[in-house]
Amino acid sequence: MEHRRKKISVIGAGFVGSTCAHWIAAKELADVVILDINEGAAKGKALDLAQAGPVEGFDAKIIGTANYKDTAGSDVVIITAGLPRKPGMSRDDLLSTNAKIMKDVCTGLREFCPNAFVIVVSNPLDAMTYVAYETMKMPKNRIMGMAGVLDTARFKMFISEELNVSVEDIQAIVLGGHGDTMVPMPRHTLVGGVPLTELMPKEKLEALIQRTRTGGAEIVGLLKTGSAYYAPSASAVQMAETILKDKKRIIPCAALCEGEYGYKNLFVGVPALIGGSGVEKIIEMKLNDEEKRMLDSSAAAVKDLVEALKKLS
Ligand code: NAI
Ligand code: 2OP
Repeated sequence: MEHRRKKISVIGAGFVGSTCAHWIAAKELADVVILDINEGAAKGKALDLAQAGPVEGFDAKIIGTANYKDTAGSDVVIITAGLPRKPGMSRDDLLSTNAKIMKDVCTGLREFCPNAFVIVVSNPLDAMTYVAYETMKMPKNRIMGMAGVLDTARFKMFISEELNVSVEDIQAIVLGGHGDTMVPMPRHTLVGGVPLTELMPKEKLEALIQRTRTGGAEIVGLLKTGSAYYAPSASAVQMAETILKDKKRIIPCAALCEGEYGYKNLFVGVPALIGGSGVEKIIEMKLNDEEKRMLDSSAAAVKDLVEALKKLS
């Protein structure tokens, strides 16, 4: 009986891409294809990771390539190709450069894996997911952007540290675009079932929310070159696993809103039911006026970026 392992292609062999491959192999989730315009980097990292197999005891075929043909038949594709933000670089620089890269990548993928589920990681996240959607021309359930899992993980980690409780006992959600306007939701955050708002003074909570909003920049500031990659890659791989195992988890991700929350034709971070069919449903939470105002302002910031992109092309 023929049996084939699942296949995940990771586009970009940089920090996020190669660490995605590492998590996938370590979890024995799938065989991995690492694709990069820099063929040597893709091949070298794939070979190195494959040689960790006998040490760690994972069985996964890992190859590196610059040829999209090798991605054919992928069940999931994670796109991390693109520049990370560097000091002195404007958001618009990143926007136009990464949009070009995203179009190139998606043109290659469209030919060889039109039926894959696509998880976009490249920044600016919400706008890049839109570019991928426009280029791939695939159904909206098959394409999503990773940001909410990461932003929520940061919020949870800060809460866990502050209260000295397990990260596993914290339930939280961060909505909106992946930027300074993201919307952590303290009213919907529980610690072992107890509302967070009962466990922490308002000023402390505000400080953790602010630290979450600038969580990516905090790491860029420390690293000086490049940006975060352990938590981002773990987050992207969690989304891939949720799809491959049809787990039907409710997780925040950039999904195409077509009327949900009042947004049209816009990818923005919303709670989504993720399963074997990708984004199976967007969950519409009841927001109070303050939460809705913050989400609207975050969605407006994403919309501005998408409009800027349309003017560039
Ligand atoms: P990196 O610079 O380490 O890796 C990027 C890789 O993309 C490089 O190996 C480069 O050769 C490759 N690349 C460039 N153009 C390409 C093309 N046309 N085709 C194929 N490969 C190409 O950057 P890193 O740290 O891995 O970050 C990748 C992206 O992910 C950045 O845009 C970063 O801002 C974003 N990011 C997003 C997060 C999120 O929460 N959504 C979190 C962390 C990073
Ligand atoms: C982050 O949040 C840079 O988007 C990346 O770490």
